[in-house]
Amino acid sequence: MRISVIGCGYLGAVHAASMAKLGHEVVGIDVDQNKIKELSAGTAPFFEPGLPELLSESLRSGRLTFSTDMEDAAGAQVHFLCVGTPQKKGEYAADLRYVDAAFTALTPYVQPGDVVAGKSTVPVGTAARLADELAETAPGAILAWNPEFLREGHAVADTLTPDRFVYGVPSGEASEAAVAALDEVYATPLSTGTPRQVVDYATAELVKTAANSFLATKISFINAMAEVCDAAGADVTALADAIGLDDRIGRKFLNAGVGFGGGCLPKDIRAFMARAGELGADQALTFLREVDAINMRRRSRVVEMTREICGGSLLGKRVTILGAAFKPDSDDVRDSPALSAAAQMQLQGATVTVTDPEALQNAKGRFPELGYEPVTEHAIQDAHALVLLTEWKEYRALDPVAVSSLVTEKNIIDGRNVLDPAAWREAGWTYRGMGRP
Ligand code: UDX
Repeated sequence: MRISVIGCGYLGAVHAASMAKLGHEVVGIDVDQNKIKELSAGTAPFFEPGLPELLSESLRSGRLTFSTDMEDAAGAQVHFLCVGTPQKKGEYAADLRYVDAAFTALTPYVQPGDVVAGKSTVPVGTAARLADELAETAPGAILAWNPEFLREGHAVADTLTPDRFVYGVPSGEASEAAVAALDEVYATPLSTGTPRQVVDYATAELVKTAANSFLATKISFINAMAEVCDAAGADVTALADAIGLDDRIGRKFLNAGVGFGGGCLPKDIRAFMARAGELGADQALTFLREVDAINMRRRSRVVEMTREICGGSLLGKRVTILGAAFKPDSDDVRDSPALSAAAQMQLQGATVTVTDPEALQNAKGRFPELGYEPVTEHAIQDAHALVLLTEWKEYRALDPVAVSSLVTEKNIIDGRNVLDPAAWREAGWTYRGMGRP
């Protein structure tokens, strides 16, 4: 099939390369010339395991090209909209300007019978509005909403072998054509039995925001338990293990720590609250305000703990932050709990050095006032406290005995509860986890 992918960020770049891998002829289109230049040369503009290999393979096959010219979308049978929907400045609502701009630029090249499939995370009601617009500007074309559930760090596998497909389609005859087109696109993963659910537009849009809200709620639930564990002298990790054995609850996404960040969960729950308010259903989602508040408290909590471990004040203390990305295996620092805590510590008088295997360049762009050091051993040198905030493998594997000789004071805060407290304490460290005695 001939496919166009509009927007080549985290979502679009991976989607374009993956669709080519599935055997389709794909053009990826973006307004950012640098991004297109890099992608055309087989370089991923961001860190995502497996993507450089997939890009090279797909480019070599001749089935994948990139362009800044929307005209190149002409001739594709399915056009995927993969642009970002960030949070509006000073508001909770999602900013739809990129979706609208991409859509308006695309429609002159859409032919009758083509399917325009939205993948971006949008407020419920957007697809119905775009479908009306499409009927005016490209009569005979069909709009579908096909949300994406990929996780950064696992984006390639999540795209090639997702756990489900959701198709939001119009009613009537057009629905069959939309389903047939998407089934053809995803024929390979569907042939292995991947479930697919065909629903209306609004349900498809809500599946995505509901899924992310549930995940955010799960994380904030366990972080609320961590607060209680702190107060009661209990251990939230053991608690999560025990409740997670109940398969109605499950152990995944019950890791307490410094909380969730990134380009999705925080802004998606806020946009969801804003949209529910517009629909007159704000009461239904007031709990998400609490989910957000619990999450933001984790960042202040880790700063407070660092102050405590440093003897009550951060003034003049050298603090090393292990990890800048919002999660491991990513160089994404959008709304990263690690950087937000690091900045607060610096404001309270600490000299902060941040280290990370992949995210330092992005971190510097956002927080130029912090200190950065790529080599872990150098970053740790002479610290009064180490604060692990992103659980990269290499930080989990730090040897407490070896690290002892590098620091000024043996204090460590485990903001992700991934270290072995006994091993660190045995080596003479003051260890503190989050919600652990
Ligand atoms: C998320 C959704 O998982 C994905 O389905 C959706 O398509 C996009 O948003 P992503 O933002 O890549 O994906 O990250 P995710 O793995 O969900 O982690 C989000 C944040 O939650 C990270 O900061 C992570 O460190 C944190 N987290 C996750 C916890 O604090 N505890 C957990 O138990 C799990």
